[in-house]
Amino acid sequence: MALDKPYLDVPGTTIFDAEQSRKGYWLNQFCMSLMTAENRTRFKADEDAYLAEWPMTDEQRAAVRARDLNWAMRTGGNIYFLAKLGATDGLSFQQMAGSMTGMSEHAYRDMMIAGGRSAEGNRVTGEGGNAQGPASQSDAWKQWELTHQQALAAQIMDDHATQQTAAGNAAGSLEHARITASVYTSHVPAIGAAIDLGKTGEPYWQPLFAGYEPSKQWMRDNQPDVVFLVYNDHATSFDLGMIPTFAIGTAAEFEPADEGYGPRPVPKVIGHPDLASHIAQSVIQQDFDLTIVNDLKVDHGLTVPMNLLFGSPDAWPVKVIPFAVNVVQYPVPSGARCFALGKAIRRAIESYDTPLKVQIWGTGGMSHQLQGPRAGLINKEWDNKFLDRLIAEPAELAKVPHIEYVREAGSEGIELVMWLIARGAMADVAGTGPAPHVAHRFFHVPASNTAVGHLILENQ
Ligand code: DHB
Ligand code: FE
Repeated sequence: MALDKPYLDVPGTTIFDAEQSRKGYWLNQFCMSLMTAENRTRFKADEDAYLAEWPMTDEQRAAVRARDLNWAMRTGGNIYFLAKLGATDGLSFQQMAGSMTGMSEHAYRDMMIAGGRSAEGNRVTGEGGNAQGPASQSDAWKQWELTHQQALAAQIMDDHATQQTAAGNAAGSLEHARITASVYTSHVPAIGAAIDLGKTGEPYWQPLFAGYEPSKQWMRDNQPDVVFLVYNDHATSFDLGMIPTFAIGTAAEFEPADEGYGPRPVPKVIGHPDLASHIAQSVIQQDFDLTIVNDLKVDHGLTVPMNLLFGSPDAWPVKVIPFAVNVVQYPVPSGARCFALGKAIRRAIESYDTPLKVQIWGTGGMSHQLQGPRAGLINKEWDNKFLDRLIAEPAELAKVPHIEYVREAGSEGIELVMWLIARGAMADVAGTGPAPHVAHRFFHVPASNTAVGHLILENQ
């Protein structure tokens, strides 16, 4: 199912959506670099050399050289970013906007003084208004189109074939992405250290890692294409300068973070930008406000669960979409909101027109408190009840208020709300399948300061 993009038929207008943003990432980042005097000077001194430093497409570089903003926007540029290029040239916003209309600078200014362009006839493509295009096109663009016509034609044929396949797949039944299973696990940093330092066989650690042996076998038998991995950033990529409540990683890759001990010796995480952008757009259209993150280093919250389920390979065998939830600074999202978000994520994933197998993981917890005289709190009874209820009555469990997590599971036990996102994405919650099959359940105390819980639930 295509996402709702009602703005595509607004004339003379490019909406900067997730797809455009992905296309234009390096072009826009290059523009941002012009926010220092030193870079502006270097750029002006040798534009080709400066542009060569950025992994943009040749077409994006050509559009920049031509200062053709319409062209730059077609390749993913956004006006607020491109404005840094205009500013470098000493242009005002009015000059930049006017340059895209095909009007002279004076005519544009006069039109604005006279009350601006009328919306009349300019609401929908095909009406008779004066914004119906074609937009002004530089000679450089025309030259580019001429010399690249063959490549363009091939690209159009290619796009057409892809669309046909997607349409055929969509018509042909279940050829869209599916959530096959959800996985839940604690993510204690000391577990990562035990792996990195070769201590997994020591008596302290052996029972814990033994509990994940069946999980690794299950994963070999049920390997997905993509893991949608819900975790929390532990003051790693997000400091007090900015704290998003829900953040989705839309980048192509994510490096392991240095949390103070040096980066963990684990492979970099390969993302799925296209699916992630699709999920971002779909979930935001369902009224959940996600923060879109392209520059993200992943900490133990993500890497430790990867080791627990995949072992220590040279490269991770799946793509991962990191999804970070703020459980560090209050207010943190409620269990009910996390559960509802899981439902929205399910709708997003299952409307993606490529037959991918997707697992959704919820990490963190179980009971632990890392601070104050109450540090070390563990509540086995509450934790096991949480596991029972997560399996059998997740909607009821989602109603548990914050204060109960703090009182019963310790201040850091609040990480468990993230498990409700994964549970909310299962088929039984959507009413499209039976209760999930419990493929594995494990509980162990302690790992460092934490009670370790682990569940694998399969959609049937
Ligand atoms: C511990 C557990 C965590 O979930 C975490 O993020 C940091 C430390 C611990 O038990 O030491
Ligand atoms: Fe944690």
